[in-house]
Amino acid sequence: MSDKKSTKTNWEKLELDKKYLPRIKSTSDLNPNTFINDLYKNIGKEVTICGWMYNKRSSGRIQFLQIRDGTGDVQAIIEKKDVDQKTWANAEELTIESSLQLTGIARKDDRSPFGYEIDVKGLKIIQVSPDYPIGKKSHGPDFLLDNRHLWLRSTKQRAVLKIRDEIFFSITSFLHEQNFIRVDTPIFQPVSCEDTSELFEIDYFGNKTYLTQSGQLYCEACEYALGRTYDFGPVFRAEKSKTRKHLIEFWMMDAELPFTDMEGLMDFEQEMIRRIIKDCLRNCSYELKVLSRDITNLKKCLEKDFIRITHNKTIDLLNDKFEMNLTYLDDIGAPEEEKLAEVYDLPIFITDWPEEIKAFYMPKYKDKEIERVRAVDLMSSNGYGEICGGAEREYDFNKLLKVLKEKNYPYKDYKWYMDLRKYGAIPHSGFGIGLERTVRWISGIKHIRETIPFPRMLNRLRP
Ligand code: 4AD
Ligand code: MG
Repeated sequence: MSDKKSTKTNWEKLELDKKYLPRIKSTSDLNPNTFINDLYKNIGKEVTICGWMYNKRSSGRIQFLQIRDGTGDVQAIIEKKDVDQKTWANAEELTIESSLQLTGIARKDDRSPFGYEIDVKGLKIIQVSPDYPIGKKSHGPDFLLDNRHLWLRSTKQRAVLKIRDEIFFSITSFLHEQNFIRVDTPIFQPVSCEDTSELFEIDYFGNKTYLTQSGQLYCEACEYALGRTYDFGPVFRAEKSKTRKHLIEFWMMDAELPFTDMEGLMDFEQEMIRRIIKDCLRNCSYELKVLSRDITNLKKCLEKDFIRITHNKTIDLLNDKFEMNLTYLDDIGAPEEEKLAEVYDLPIFITDWPEEIKAFYMPKYKDKEIERVRAVDLMSSNGYGEICGGAEREYDFNKLLKVLKEKNYPYKDYKWYMDLRKYGAIPHSGFGIGLERTVRWISGIKHIRETIPFPRMLNRLRP
């Protein structure tokens, strides 16, 4: 009872003071606006900007407002002698994160980090913010994550999300140019694609189903209809790992390449990664600077072929150089990835993995008594770890049937997948790239939680 009482919402107490309510009735009170990233076309002209004020400096007779509108940032300058009393009073009333519309003359300014400034003539308040909880002092990660909906507005967070958008766009444009067709694969999947221990179980009207771990299997079916295909969407892994590179919900692009083997797959992945780097260096130079990303290494990735090494040789190398005591059946995790980055300063394709630690659909072969698969993981450079997982797909019906039998997978759920090995089977390969892992690498961000607007992690589901 008392519990209920304490969680009861006191709606009246939540109401904002009148001074924090909107000052305009509707958008018709506003003038048509120019985007900040179009200011360069309007030098010397009068422009109207709508946005948020995220910083202010004042020296009695002159106020400097830093404004963002999502397309860019600009400094607006208001001199008391140049504006009417109302405009000056409005500017004085603005608090951090207040929303506004201002009108003024756009000017190029080489000293400004944004390149342009606006000499203000008029200013309309849209809403004045009460005390903004995120200040200039440093906050702990929990506070920032609790306030993720506001933290997103910070310069660095905006830069990371801009890079995320660029990478998404870069991947999809590249694939489109390379004759890929986008297919959207289901999120509810009764079959498991990767490790069964990481499945999110869902009750689907009384039937057990799972949230997708990867659209790959469905992408393969589409491949038989459309040739080169890909999907791009959210995937889910009930991974109990609390690391800087694991999310529970993340975005993955799965691509399928018909008539392609592991070597062809690596060639293709390298080309796609280079395209991502090129697009980011060209279109996100400001953002990379904001994040203090040293781009020397990214540039190097454009010039030299990525390293190709077998799992076997990787284990030998790590054992010899770093006395790591790994066996030929071990996985490569974060500590190993970091050591590899000390040896190679380029992305690394690790091929020919032990069958035991990889998925069921990969073709097997025996190598020195060890069952291996034609799989290839791509490690990024600078120690940011794996970004792509890929493999050839077993296309011999009977071989794959044997695997399903050994693993005790229910045939009825995989019958459709097996049909692809019955009707027009072809050799093919594919890979998945983790969007957030890639953003983390390109941005040089330590923790993956900052690479997605609202991260879902082991102990975080809110906001
Ligand atoms: O290596 P994975 O598990 O491969 C697959 O799921 C294949 N079915 C893909 C395919 O062949 N179409 O996952 C692919 C990528 C990883 O390389 C990594 O970048 C990312 O997905 N990834 C994660 N990203 C964030 N958090 C996690 N928990 C991740 N697990 C995998
Ligand atoms: Mg993997």
